[in-house]
Amino acid sequence: MTGTALRKTATFTVAALAYCVFSIAPVQAELKTDSSMIESRVEKLLAQMTIEEKLGQLTQQSGGHSQGFNPGDTTPEQKALFDRVRSGEIGSFLNTHGAVYINEVQRIATEESRLGIPVIFGNDVIHGYRTTFPIPLAESASWSPIMAEKSARVAAIEAYAAGINWTFAPMIDIARDPRWGRIAEGAGEDPYLGAKFAVARVKGFQGGNLADAGTIAACAKHYVAYGAAEGGRDYNTVDISLRTLREIHMPPFEAAVEAGVATLMSAFNEINGIPASANRFTLTDVLRGEWGFKGFVVSDWTSVKELIRHGYAADEADAGEKAIYAGVDMEMASTCYRDHLANAVKEGRISQEVIDEAVRRVLRVKFQLGLFDNPYRDVKKEKELVFCQEHRNIARDVARHSIVLLKNEGNLLPLSDKLSSLAIVGPLADTPRDALGMWSPTSRNEDAVTILAGIKKRLSEKTKVTYVKGCEVQGGSTDGFAEAVQAAKNSEVTVVVVGESEGMNGEARCRSSLDIPEIQRELLKTLHATGKPIIVLLMTGRPLSINWTAENIPAILNVWHLGTEMGLATADVLFGDFNPGGKLPATFPRTVGQIPIHYNHKNTGRPPVEGDFFRSRYLDLPSSPLYPFGFGLSYTTFEFGNLKLSSETIRPADTLIVTVNVKNTGKRKGDEVAQLYIRDLVASVTRPVRELKGFERITLDPGETKTVTFKLSPKELGFYNQQMKFAVEPGKFKIWVGPNSVEGVEGSFEVTDNQH
Ligand code: NOJ
Repeated sequence: MTGTALRKTATFTVAALAYCVFSIAPVQAELKTDSSMIESRVEKLLAQMTIEEKLGQLTQQSGGHSQGFNPGDTTPEQKALFDRVRSGEIGSFLNTHGAVYINEVQRIATEESRLGIPVIFGNDVIHGYRTTFPIPLAESASWSPIMAEKSARVAAIEAYAAGINWTFAPMIDIARDPRWGRIAEGAGEDPYLGAKFAVARVKGFQGGNLADAGTIAACAKHYVAYGAAEGGRDYNTVDISLRTLREIHMPPFEAAVEAGVATLMSAFNEINGIPASANRFTLTDVLRGEWGFKGFVVSDWTSVKELIRHGYAADEADAGEKAIYAGVDMEMASTCYRDHLANAVKEGRISQEVIDEAVRRVLRVKFQLGLFDNPYRDVKKEKELVFCQEHRNIARDVARHSIVLLKNEGNLLPLSDKLSSLAIVGPLADTPRDALGMWSPTSRNEDAVTILAGIKKRLSEKTKVTYVKGCEVQGGSTDGFAEAVQAAKNSEVTVVVVGESEGMNGEARCRSSLDIPEIQRELLKTLHATGKPIIVLLMTGRPLSINWTAENIPAILNVWHLGTEMGLATADVLFGDFNPGGKLPATFPRTVGQIPIHYNHKNTGRPPVEGDFFRSRYLDLPSSPLYPFGFGLSYTTFEFGNLKLSSETIRPADTLIVTVNVKNTGKRKGDEVAQLYIRDLVASVTRPVRELKGFERITLDPGETKTVTFKLSPKELGFYNQQMKFAVEPGKFKIWVGPNSVEGVEGSFEVTDNQH
């Protein structure tokens, strides 16, 4: 199948791709996952295991080697590690990849350990393995779960080929605070959008059957409410209402469980005084009791041992006991389980059954993955598949779907490819690592097409392209400004790439300012002063406050960090080969002082009103954001109309059908995302001013109209009432369908429990 053919087909492309590269007989796959057979194999194995072997299965260690390993050539450290695999002390590794090395470990585990239990190799395959995709926040800006499913599918195929069985993804934490660096890793601020992307990514990684070649187990993380860290500071305390926990932070996890996610990761944070990695309410009562989760839970890195620092456990033994009792099955990196739980069982503090149940869960997933039947990977296939052209084509397509057009005064964009000269300026225009994005340890710099490289590739020799770095990403020197100004003066148009480097977002990379670093702002202002047309490409992993830019620069494309194909995708959009249709998955505040700011806030008793002082507002700036959730423009224009509801009144158990017409009123083919929001006007607890309850990205030819249909069922209309029971309450609702969270055509309906 060619790359072009791949791009043309929609949802089935990914499945087809997996099938064509791995010809595994489906019958064999079915045999492996037959659940009763797995249960009996698990029980048989469990009956033979010593307590040490059991705890080994609950232990995950950081592995040693990756590429370039030669099985015959082992250092003393490596030999010691292999000995521990041989003795059954380690059931899982992370941070290891490469078929040659992993095959060797699997050989030792399955052929030289007493019970022959394979190791499960986990890895952070967050936005691609070697073919690198947009960072997850960017990909979510596509508002196209199909894109997310495709990228996860490709990541799974490559990771599988490299020996990896399990990814620590998707990260599905809701983030309402852009200071938090890990907003880059999730789907943004909204639980509905977040749940849709969570499901798509789980499906993409896991495929239809974990035993199939090219599928890996997913891990929904970080359970739970990790994104609600106070002050947007990573790992910080979380203190939120049970309602916010249930309605904002839990829905993506519930959806992932419903979609069959194999594992979850318990978070670093505490929730209202109880650490997430020792929280029996969230890990057992809700996750297993209410949602029926059957897989296993792994802790985050040393989060079991960190119970001591939280002040929740006295020592490592206490930490291990509290975590396993709460429902954390496997311990990552620290060794409280391995070192202390045998004693806890002997002394009766933890029952044997608690340990056995955790071991069962881990073994079950190993069986489901088919690891007992064949843990080895084909080294030749690894070479063929990883970073192949088909995968790169998909990455480019996902990348261009993720770009958001924030401003386009006077239709400055798209640019003509007949320009005689073009200046490209900025410290982020030609840095491969920044194109790749924050979590790409298995990506290679030499694979990444930077913005400069992509634009150069797109233009013919007739356009003179001048590149000037201008300044560093952060720092004081203006030495490069003069050359940048000269380049701008000598060129028809100047493209300025500004924003964050990849090291400015992601884990532990929180910021107290959301500004573009000062030196880059100065550079931009200096270039603007030339009076020449300027286009800003904003590279970022979080919402930024770009007030001056938004006011003064005529055209702005938010290009995030788009992965290996960044430059090609950016050029596709810049020159109009692809019409941007992305929408913001998180609100862009005017300043950091507005945080928390999210579209689904409450109305309060005093919502802001122009000219009224005693209102919920700031003295020094409007209450509205710079760019609202769901916002994004196109090179064409759209009109929403003819909103129709299947009924004006429905019963609580009914489903309402909503249709709307979307018309492309411009002259170019383009994508629009129809977004449906509701507001429950009066309820037993106050409800948000708007809640997203449906969306669909569609493509329209000039003049074309499409009808989009949404279903509002009790799942969308319900909420946790005063008794914390999920219910649909009778009463009036407002509804909007439009291009973002502040515009749209309006309607209303009523939920009534009257029989007549
Ligand atoms: C810590 C991070 O919080 C988690 O997301 C990641 O999977 C682990 N480290 C392993 O790298």
